[in-house]
Amino acid sequence: MKRIVILVSGRGSNAQAIVQRCAAEGWPAQVVAIIGNRPGAAAFEFAAQQGITTALVDHTRHPSREAFDVELARVIDGFAPDLVVLAGFMRILTDGFVAHYAGRLLNIHPSLLPAFAGLHTHRRAIEAGCKLAGATVHFVTPTLDHGPIVAQAAVPVLPDDTPEALFDRVLAVEHAIYPLAVRWFVMGQLVVQGGVVRHTGGESQLLMG
Ligand code: GAR
Repeated sequence: MKRIVILVSGRGSNAQAIVQRCAAEGWPAQVVAIIGNRPGAAAFEFAAQQGITTALVDHTRHPSREAFDVELARVIDGFAPDLVVLAGFMRILTDGFVAHYAGRLLNIHPSLLPAFAGLHTHRRAIEAGCKLAGATVHFVTPTLDHGPIVAQAAVPVLPDDTPEALFDRVLAVEHAIYPLAVRWFVMGQLVVQGGVVRHTGGESQLLMG
């Protein structure tokens, strides 16, 4: 059984999608902990309902980014994970933290990377006149919102879109591709060569929503 730890900052709908698909599809994996950096995160309620262990590592209680990441890694490593999944974890991670989990740290970002790293991705896509937006699951490297791309989902940007409407449309496809990418990882179906990720069975890594 592969051991998965999920990191969240808020609502945790992606964490929920992964937990549910893992159980429904009987992956050889278990979500052993959901760890958050903000007290009262909604994701903790879901975890409690599911009987999943939770932990809070509050970034405001640490004097520096480095100190927070050291403590976070200590708590994560207590669960001996094979895979660490960032699911709406809104923290910039130190290079040391990223290096420690190299090759077993996934993130989802609400844009078609490499476009629109950073914040306010939906508004920026609309303002740029993009006709497509979407989400990307990638292995994490030290550069923010960057790293080998495991899967992408694309949705249309509609003529009268608002950032809120586009957010909802993108989030719906996030809930499809993130569980898929995590399943591929736990099944050992991903290879990374020259910064490019391929599915060993040739499954499509692109979802058109
Ligand atoms: C998701 O839209 C995710 O792509 C985004 O935060 C949201 C979390 O929602 N992540 C980032 O912006 C990371 N750069 P959730 O808590 O309901 O899963």
